[in-house]
Amino acid sequence: MRNIDEHTITPAVLAAMAGCPDPRLKAIMDSLVRHLHDFAREVKLTEAEWEAGIRFLTEAGHITDDSRQEFILLSDVLGLSMLVTAQNNAKPAGCTEATVFGPFFVEGAPRVDCGADIANGARGTPCYVSGQVRGIGGEPVPGAAIDVWQSDEEGFYDVQQPDAAGGHAHRARAQLRSDAQGRFHFRSILAHCYPIPHDGPVGRMLQALGRHPWRPAHLHFMIAAPGYERLITHVFRAGDRYLDSDAVFGVRQSLVADWQRHEPDARHPHEGGYYTLAYDFVLNPAPGAA
Ligand code: BEZ
Ligand code: FE
Repeated sequence: MRNIDEHTITPAVLAAMAGCPDPRLKAIMDSLVRHLHDFAREVKLTEAEWEAGIRFLTEAGHITDDSRQEFILLSDVLGLSMLVTAQNNAKPAGCTEATVFGPFFVEGAPRVDCGADIANGARGTPCYVSGQVRGIGGEPVPGAAIDVWQSDEEGFYDVQQPDAAGGHAHRARAQLRSDAQGRFHFRSILAHCYPIPHDGPVGRMLQALGRHPWRPAHLHFMIAAPGYERLITHVFRAGDRYLDSDAVFGVRQSLVADWQRHEPDARHPHEGGYYTLAYDFVLNPAPGAA
């Protein structure tokens, strides 16, 4: 293994990994090395560009902590997250489609009963959400665990607004359960479009590429029930200006829904009135489930 040039380097690295005892790891790393080397040869990567790439990854590492995951953002804006979601979530026609998870889910959100107001102080126009969880055969799915999370009217999730002690209250997120008919309902606030965090290296990359950081307004859902595949998805708001240019490529037409606006009334004096959203979810049976 001497006198390696820009072409013989690839088989040399593959040979160095030939003894890997884990066949899946070997397949992934072989492919990664081949594609990475082909990429560097194709663009004739210069040393300065390679250094810029290393600096970018270093900055991504430095800005990453428990509440900021720059590498997930990078995967999202490069379309890798949606690609992995799509190729692992093919479902029969009629099932609700999956989309990206995003970085703002939090374990341990408050468990609430149907009908609860989950806003918990998050600012926004009131919004009532209702729907039913069903299986592909039309059967209601009772007792499904439904996690919901969303941003406020300024486009921030609760985790992006830590309190003085560095913690945060759970706002505009909760877990509830579908009732005996698979139905659920809760009160929250109207979803708004928002930019993904863009004050770090990923934001600077988007700007250099002439891209914007915005996501169309959406509500996140994660729905789990025994005998069914877990569903991770969003419901997007029809008419949003970013539906066709989502920064993370997550929009699917079947997930776009109308939020109905209602005039203010005695219970809803907010100048924006209030909104209602009705959306049903259809789960795919788990592999091997009857
Ligand atoms: C989100 O929808 O919460 C999200 C998804 C990808 C990147 C940033 C945010
Ligand atoms: Fe989101």
